[in-house]
Amino acid sequence: MGTLIDRFGRHIDYLRLSVTDRCDLRCQYCMPEGFKGFEEPAHWLTFDEIERLVSIFAQLGISRVRLTGGEPLLRKGLPELAARLAKLPELHDISLSTNGTQLVKHGAALRSAGVQRLNVSLDTLQAERFHQICGRPVFDDVLAGLAHARQLGFDPIKINMVAMKGVNDDEIDDMVSFCMDQGFVLRLIETMPVGQTGRDAQFLDLQAELDRIQHRFGLLDQIQLVGAGPARYLSTVDGRFSVGFITPISQHFCASCNRIRMTVDGTLHLCLGQEAQVEFRPLLRSEASDSEIVAAIHQAIELKPERHEFREQPSKIMRFMSMTGG
Ligand code: GTP
Ligand code: 5AD
Ligand code: SF4
Repeated sequence: MGTLIDRFGRHIDYLRLSVTDRCDLRCQYCMPEGFKGFEEPAHWLTFDEIERLVSIFAQLGISRVRLTGGEPLLRKGLPELAARLAKLPELHDISLSTNGTQLVKHGAALRSAGVQRLNVSLDTLQAERFHQICGRPVFDDVLAGLAHARQLGFDPIKINMVAMKGVNDDEIDDMVSFCMDQGFVLRLIETMPVGQTGRDAQFLDLQAELDRIQHRFGLLDQIQLVGAGPARYLSTVDGRFSVGFITPISQHFCASCNRIRMTVDGTLHLCLGQEAQVEFRPLLRSEASDSEIVAAIHQAIELKPERHEFREQPSKIMRFMSMTGG
């Protein structure tokens, strides 16, 4: 088995796989209302192409795959893809990031496919505000999806709240209480200036919130585990509740980055906040052998930038977040 190590000594073992760029919501920090510039399905990697590519990545040391979108559950047959990936012996973690609107419909199939961990976006507990932030009046569907997912035994279920100044920052404590009560992990996220939408979102620096919440709820600071993902966690003494802070702007975590991203058209993005990318679709659709693809992956990893430059060059990334799945 191989390993993927970049120029900065980081072990790359986590692939974020975007299976569609479409979404049934229009979250204001992600995709603008009326956006229609989606990939055409002929450009989409098929399940066979995805499975082949992921199995090559897995032989090179990728052991965790997170399915993302757009909204991944809009990709027809997604549980079948998850089941196919779960059979790859090197992969020990298949997870999903979703907006939750389709969980009632697809939750059971996903669970039987072998998906264990679920991250669900939820920025507010107010139905009207949900409509404003996410562009559709489907708050109740998301809550029903969450309740269903909990019953099905997904564990952990993490709630992603993009915290925005003057938009939903008055609900942070309510969200802490809600997640504590419901048994969800909460993550508070700083908006990233990806695409025009990300730049327009009302940025909130979470460092002061971290101190305030730690104090108010009596939480313990967890030592950050390398490779455990971007969040810094606070937990209750009994460990039953945790809140994570994903702070790409106020305190970035690039030094421990372990991840790469594949879009639905087969483009490998080496960093969320940089343009470095390599197209794999032409290789997959030629007669390229597995060893040629392995060589292309090694070359791509060489291009992984040291860090994003959101602070220095906030207007740099023009693609929408929905293309790379966060
Ligand atoms: P796990 O750690 O596996 O639970 O996943 P995650 O938290 O990385 O995934 P999720 O899809 O829930 O993303 C949560 C937030 O973290 C989103 O806003 C992502 O854009 C952000 N995020 C994830 N990975 C990175 C990264 O490498 N860099 C930056 N800047 N943000 C990231
Ligand atoms: N900044 C930070 N997080 C974002 N997400 C989408 N767009 C942005 C942005 N501009 C989050 C979503 C979802 C996760 C996959 O990415 O809220 O939970
Ligand atoms: Fe859709 Fe997720 Fe983007 Fe919201 S954040 S518009 S749910 S892809």
